[in-house]
Amino acid sequence: MKQHFIDNLWVAPASGGHIPVINPSHGTVFGHVARGNSDDIDLAVRAARTAFDGAWGRLTATERGRLLQKLSESLLQHMDELVQLESQDCGKPTNQARADVNSIARYFEFYAGAADKLMGETIPYQNGYTVFTIREPQGVTGHIVPWNYPMQIFGRSVGASLAAGNACVVKPAEDACLSILRVAELAAEVGFPAGAINVVTGYGHEAGDALSRHPDVDHISFTGSPNIGKLVIQTAAEHHTPVTLELGGKSPQIVFADADFDAMVPVVVDAIVRNSGQTCSAGSRVLVERSAYEAVVARLTAAFEALRVGPAEMDLDCGPLIRDSQLQRVKAYLDEAKRDGLTVAAQGHLVADAPAGGFYQVPTLIRDVPPTHRLAQEEVFGPVLVIMPFEDDAHAVQLANDTAFGLVSSIWTRDGGRQLRMARQMQSGQVFINNYGAGGGIELPFGGVKASGHGREKGFEALYSFTVLKTISIKHD
Ligand code: NAI
Ligand code: MG
Repeated sequence: MKQHFIDNLWVAPASGGHIPVINPSHGTVFGHVARGNSDDIDLAVRAARTAFDGAWGRLTATERGRLLQKLSESLLQHMDELVQLESQDCGKPTNQARADVNSIARYFEFYAGAADKLMGETIPYQNGYTVFTIREPQGVTGHIVPWNYPMQIFGRSVGASLAAGNACVVKPAEDACLSILRVAELAAEVGFPAGAINVVTGYGHEAGDALSRHPDVDHISFTGSPNIGKLVIQTAAEHHTPVTLELGGKSPQIVFADADFDAMVPVVVDAIVRNSGQTCSAGSRVLVERSAYEAVVARLTAAFEALRVGPAEMDLDCGPLIRDSQLQRVKAYLDEAKRDGLTVAAQGHLVADAPAGGFYQVPTLIRDVPPTHRLAQEEVFGPVLVIMPFEDDAHAVQLANDTAFGLVSSIWTRDGGRQLRMARQMQSGQVFINNYGAGGGIELPFGGVKASGHGREKGFEALYSFTVLKTISIKHD
């Protein structure tokens, strides 16, 4: 059984309880992780506070940056092991798990370089005064991480928080703890002082709730579902703890008739098929200008029919979903589509020898979906793409913005004026033109509007959210 990682030590759970670790490609149990509770969270928060007040907090920004860089290098040195862990635990095809390791290493590299470049400003004020701002770490930050990209999300939030000088307590999702535990262990090995990074595994309503409720946590970063996000911010409000929320989306890809279809098709397919559609910034709606609608449906149909699904180790287009309940959730959406008479334009294929116990869903393209249908409005979090026509620019904008979410959008057109006009009207945190980044790169600020959440992660912007801006005013004349 894997224990918690607190204060650079393996620590048994206070409750003595554990949670089975499941391989989604086979549906089999291959280990256990600790079932954390409020006592474990309390121990981790105290370890983090001690580190912040002590060995970790005393390091200069440059010294912190060097440690982050060492961790980045160590992650790449342990590539094969981390790929294997993540593939087994989350069902990720190996090339997608490899992309995650490259990503987390790049986050630590980026934030290593940024650590000693986080500066304040001087502000012109009245005569006889000098006023300046400094950016101070918040203290102890809590990170509630989902199961879809454990390493990437650890990298983007813990990496930024450490660079800013905070000590961290991480609560991974109960379905995806192994890679994060190993990353924390590697951090200790490269020299992070005890207590700088602590990992408590467990269920959301136990360990996650205890973290968001803890009075000595100075910031919560949460990525997950809108309902739990709402719960976390309400709980954290009890102690006025600031919360960054990243809550997924229903991100549109808007395709005009003049777009480069050869460039567009593989990108649109990847944006919904990668990680089997379990991506907060998945491009899950395609809106197509009426005159090109049938042509785009035909192209996407051909692409979907070529997609293959199977166990992670076969390294196909899609692996399994994370767990049976997620598969049932996706199937319920598809059953509803069937009941409502929606048309499945295309599906991918499950390989013949896929293990019977795995949680497989073939990629599915559904055409002519009414904009008000649940499939066009709600986050399915599976490889399900809906496609619908639009009449003109105004109609495209209206459809694009007409969901509760607002995380990412993309616009495919060669018309430069239209690119910018449309981009300015998108209600989303990121807009891609003739490309789609599914969240974009490490360097690009990322986050939502509306039900997609608030606050920005990634890039330099994330550093600001993990600091407190202090204004110092000196009267000298
Ligand atoms: P979830 O929101 O329950 O899980 C996310 C994280 O929150 C996990 O670490 C979980 O343990 C924790 N959590 C759960 N209850 C909590 C509580 N009361 N207090 C504090 N932390 C808590 O998401 P779930 O149920 O795994 O997935 C359901 C749906 O949520 C998915 O189908 C998808 O639509 C959405 N989702 C979106 C994600 C994103 O990247 N934006 C990631 C995961 C899920
Ligand atoms: Mg698992």
